[in-house]
Amino acid sequence: MKIFLTGGTGFIGKPLTDRLLKRGWEVTALVRRPENDESKLIQTLGAQLIRGDVTDKESMRSAMSAVDVVIHNAGWYEFGILQKDHDQMYKINVEGTQNTLSLAFELGIPKIIYTSSILAFGRTGQIIADEAYVRQFPPLTYYEETKMNAHEIAVGLQKIGAPIMIVCPAGVIGPGDHSGIGCLVRMYVRRCLPPILWTPNGRLAHVYVDDAAEAIARCVEYGKIGEVYILSNGNQAHREMSDDWKKCEGGCKTTWFWLPNPIAVLLNRLAEPVERFLGIPIVFCKEFIFSAKENWQFTAAKAEQDLHMHFRSLEKAWCDTIAGERILIQKKKTKKYQHQKINPN
Ligand SMILES: NC(=O)c1ccc[n+]([C@@H]2O[C@H](COP(=O)([O-])OP(=O)(O)OC[C@H]3O[C@@H](n4cnc5c(N)ncnc54)[C@H](OP(=O)(O)O)[C@@H]3O)[C@@H](O)[C@H]2O)c1
Repeated sequence: MKIFLTGGTGFIGKPLTDRLLKRGWEVTALVRRPENDESKLIQTLGAQLIRGDVTDKESMRSAMSAVDVVIHNAGWYEFGILQKDHDQMYKINVEGTQNTLSLAFELGIPKIIYTSSILAFGRTGQIIADEAYVRQFPPLTYYEETKMNAHEIAVGLQKIGAPIMIVCPAGVIGPGDHSGIGCLVRMYVRRCLPPILWTPNGRLAHVYVDDAAEAIARCVEYGKIGEVYILSNGNQAHREMSDDWKKCEGGCKTTWFWLPNPIAVLLNRLAEPVERFLGIPIVFCKEFIFSAKENWQFTAAKAEQDLHMHFRSLEKAWCDTIAGERILIQKKKTKKYQHQKINPN
């Protein structure tokens, strides 16, 4: 089995590449920078690298021409980007999806898998949504808007006969998660998460990164063309999420105070320009808090059935996330210590 993969160097992409290779399949991974550490890592695992960019359709043509499966997993996932960067996010998430999926269709690739997101459906209110859910609310973030547009492109191509399966991961968690929740987890592990949190009642579906990767690999084996699959370990309120963290080794075991929403909104709005001024990643921002206040509840029953997939419990997913994050932090400390020993000045 020959696979052409985009986004193989990312948070979901690395365990996905590993799972595809472990099945004995050949993986050609499209990367923007073959020389960087993440590219080298998947090369060491056994992937063949090809330099290219999803915004440049022709850069993918020759490597894609003789494969059995195309998995389009590349994307730009970030909240709080500046208006001036919207064009670039649109180019990657929307035009990149159009380029990759239409090229695969044009080349007659028999199986095409696209990583969309539950955000393509929008927030769900009190409902636990499945794949038939029809969007009820406009997007809250620019990222959500681009994933909605890209999802529509994939569905449009399915309708004209492209052999596409769409996977919609819930909020992906795990060691190395670069989202706002990932940042809070790292603060918990480092024991610097304050005992004051916000939006206790906002509910979100989460999926553990290895489960998301496994489900995408299983789409190649068991997925049905034309289908959409939601990937999720379950839904939980943020209050329940922090209760799960507290069962694992880490920071404070009690949340003293849950901030009322208007104060949480104000703090996140204030944090955004400060983070920008300090040149650190934008984590706490208007888009993050606006999303956190809402419910995004989904069921993965169809993926469990069609893909013969067992999603671990959310409690286990958090324990695995926190344990994995602790190992990552330890590895970084060891690397820094070794670097200081070699270069004392
Ligand atoms: N993380 C989540 O919670 C979540 C949830 C639902 C859906 N998703 C979707 O899952 C996919 C992967 O997300 P992730 O969290 O793994 O993101 P990530 O860690 O940021 O990785 C993004 C990947 O896309 C690649 N990429 C970005 N722009 C590209 C371009 N112009 N051309 C080629 N490759 C490009 C990156 O390559 P470089 O190494 O060159 O940067 C990287 O491999 C995205 O489509 C995202 O929207 C993510």
